[in-house]
Amino acid sequence: MISATRDAVLERARFFGAFLREPFSTGSVTPSSQALARRMVEGLDLAGARTVVEAGPGTGAFTGALVAACSPAAAIVAVEINAAFVAGLARRHPRVDVVHDSVERLPDLLRARALPPADVVISGLPWAVLDEATQERLLAGIVSALRPGGRFATFGYVQCAALPAQRRFRRRLGCLFEFLGRSEVVWSNVWPAVVYRWRKTPAGPGKEDRA
Ligand SMILES: C[S@@+](CC[C@H](N)C(=O)[O-])C[C@H]1O[C@@H](n2cnc3c(N)ncnc32)[C@H](O)[C@@H]1O
Repeated sequence: MISATRDAVLERARFFGAFLREPFSTGSVTPSSQALARRMVEGLDLAGARTVVEAGPGTGAFTGALVAACSPAAAIVAVEINAAFVAGLARRHPRVDVVHDSVERLPDLLRARALPPADVVISGLPWAVLDEATQERLLAGIVSALRPGGRFATFGYVQCAALPAQRRFRRRLGCLFEFLGRSEVVWSNVWPAVVYRWRKTPAGPGKEDRA
């Protein structure tokens, strides 16, 4: 119990340190809550998925819930750009292939592992603070790595919903995916957040922004 509390405190300290060093790619001062993690893995057909990707796992706030929701036969690949998070994540989740790289290289990373395109991608990436060019590069990596019909879940902070970058991002998702739905607001998360679920349509990009 004491060691679990100490680990949680260390994890928060590590995350806050990363935010101070890399505020824009870290995008938050603290890891997401387990309440948000539960919402992130809902409605994605994870039990039947063979290739699952976590984009931007950080210290692993969603990773335990993701592993628990996947079949033992699934390949789970977590792609994290911050080296400070990678070793700890790999140690805590030996079931997961933790890769120190950028999400824009996802298609190459799956090919290098001889994995088929992803059935599911869940994202912890800080879209609201990324500039348009970076959003586009990372989204292109995710879209190319997903199979047609594959699912994509991401979250947004409620207070960022009106920011131009967040609105632009949702419009862009509406062009690339079919909207499946959103969770209720997870008020206990710091900061309160909503999960959005999307599907890559077999026919190509979706038409509407209903998120
Ligand atoms: C807002 S934090 C979320 C971390 C964790 N998923 C959570 O919810 O607590 C964003 C994470 O995305 C990572 N990240 C940012 N840009 C990335 C990129 N291009 N490729 C992979 N990871 C990236 C950051 O290093 C950070 O760990």
